[in-house]
Amino acid sequence: MINAMKKISLAFLLLCALQLHAQKFEGLAQTPPMGWNSWNTFQTNINEELVKQTADIMVSSGMKDAGYLYLMAMERDSNGNLVPDPKKFPNGMKAVANYVHSKGLKFGLYNCAGTKTCAGYPGTRGYEYQDARLYASFGIDYLKFDWCSSEGLNAKEAYTTMSKALRVAGKPIVFSLCEWGSNKPWEWASNVGQLWRTTGDIGNVFDGIKDYGNWHANGVMTIVDMQDTLQKYAGPGHWNDPDMLEVGNGMSNSEDRAHFSIWCMLAAPLMMGNDLRRMSKETHDILTNKDAIAIDQDVLGIQGFKYADKDSVQTWFKPLKNGDWGVCFVNRSMKAQQIQFNWKNELVTNKVSNTSVNVSAVNYKLHDVWTKKDMGTTALPLTATVPSHDVLMLRLNK
Ligand code: GAL
Repeated sequence: MINAMKKISLAFLLLCALQLHAQKFEGLAQTPPMGWNSWNTFQTNINEELVKQTADIMVSSGMKDAGYLYLMAMERDSNGNLVPDPKKFPNGMKAVANYVHSKGLKFGLYNCAGTKTCAGYPGTRGYEYQDARLYASFGIDYLKFDWCSSEGLNAKEAYTTMSKALRVAGKPIVFSLCEWGSNKPWEWASNVGQLWRTTGDIGNVFDGIKDYGNWHANGVMTIVDMQDTLQKYAGPGHWNDPDMLEVGNGMSNSEDRAHFSIWCMLAAPLMMGNDLRRMSKETHDILTNKDAIAIDQDVLGIQGFKYADKDSVQTWFKPLKNGDWGVCFVNRSMKAQQIQFNWKNELVTNKVSNTSVNVSAVNYKLHDVWTKKDMGTTALPLTATVPSHDVLMLRLNK
């Protein structure tokens, strides 16, 4: 009898373990997701035409080839079931999803764990399974799930409920948690979703904050300051998300380049947030830099770490496949800075990934990710000038 009981409880435990393991869809977002999201430029002013035009440009401008696959429209209305605004989406959301899919892109939507979205549209609270079935019937590929109007909710429970609902609905959907890092999702969400926001919203400023009176958006470097302790939580299928890109939204080209570079060093999701229909050549070239993207999308999926922070210059390292490294010197100050980096005197090791830059055994070749120039090898000290609010980003090739 006791043995039988033991067996039963073992079977039960195994079942629990299996269920726990099987909660989110496995195998999705093995590298950080890349795409475009309407929010940073358009907020709720979106419609079918904008989404279709953006999808077209993602294909024609080479964005799709660069890896941007998720196109996200954040609009929603409710009539029992969710329905989109008929003026903005006259043919319904399924038609938009079909159009985006016909371009070889993936399609994402946005909603909120609370009773209302941040823009006041109906949230999902209480409708999780119903909404998940609808999303699955649209064939969507990505869901960003916000945290407004969530008073009294427990974040882990609320996001777990939606994760389960998506799972039960049966269509593999990348689940992007957006509770602004308030409840340390990195500690509990790796089995709930594929990515989680680590901070409040980004704004189009390089440093400090952008003050809107009753709330503020964070500048690029302010967000960067909050990422370094989170390295160990990121990896294939579970990413720290420092928020969408502000490239092309009003910062200088060098600031945009620095912003993009650091996001790549962080293995961050790369969600463009600019108007692709009115993009300068510089913006396009930053967003499609293959060498930078290769560092972000590296198969090892190891988030970069800050090695040094001196005289307003930060030095970041990121281990890459085959023993290569990404290196990024970021000049946060208002003036150009000379940097000197004598590889032989530096001991770059990373406990989290158990890797080291081993210049005594390997003579790495230095490739400048932005100018595409060869910069010698690690045999000699590196000397360079980094302009204000800009970067020197290298790939060390083994
Ligand atoms: C915020 C979120 C932003 C954006 C916005 C939409 O909570 O952090 O990324 O999605 O809501 O209202």
